[in-house]
Amino acid sequence: MQKERKIKIAPSILSANFTEMGAEIKNVESAGADLLHIDVMDGVFVPNISFGIKMVEDIRKITNLPLDCHLMIVNPERYVERFGKAGADYITIHYEACKEKTGEVLSKIKSLGVKAGLAFNPDTSVELIEEFIPNCDLILVMSVFPGFGGQKFIEDTLVKCEKIREIIDKNKLNCELEIDGGINADTSKLAAKSGCDILVAGSAVFNFSDRRSAINALK
Ligand code: DX5
Ligand code: ZN
Repeated sequence: MQKERKIKIAPSILSANFTEMGAEIKNVESAGADLLHIDVMDGVFVPNISFGIKMVEDIRKITNLPLDCHLMIVNPERYVERFGKAGADYITIHYEACKEKTGEVLSKIKSLGVKAGLAFNPDTSVELIEEFIPNCDLILVMSVFPGFGGQKFIEDTLVKCEKIREIIDKNKLNCELEIDGGINADTSKLAAKSGCDILVAGSAVFNFSDRRSAINALK
């Protein structure tokens, strides 16, 4: 039986107007955002470049929302300490960027007193990341290939959410389940039904002028 779960919304500032970043953040904060999703891209792990440590540092000064930093970068172990110092509440690394170093990098994040998240791509199986779930505070299922906002939701990824939900519940793990990519008022229902706790939404929040109703439509 699916138990009632309070869904949190994490607007992704990748879709915000960068020239108005402070106002955009204040706006989604007052519109009911639960976390702020910060997509860090290095142009190597993904074919796009976004922003980095200073963005987190500056945002930390203007909001109390938990900062959910999604690192789409190679060798994340080089940077996690600085993201932690900059004020990240969650640091999520990619399995594909760490492979055999994954456990080590997760421990490093935890040692900073920051929540450790593990993301994996649509073509990476749950079996490959399963062993790390007990050491994670968050698992991020990518429902698009990382790199860009505004892509179409890949429905097959919902099965992964269900599998991870089952593992978390069966083992009574203290781990949140997040989904990222292509979330809108329709796909948000599917994600919630598949056991997700946190829904990342870029275009479905920032492309609407009324952010409160956009966020409510997702909840
Ligand atoms: C994709 C990013 C996402 C992106 C989501 O690489 O990780 O967080 O901003 O954007 P939407 O919600 O528009 O798919
Ligand atoms: Zn993201």
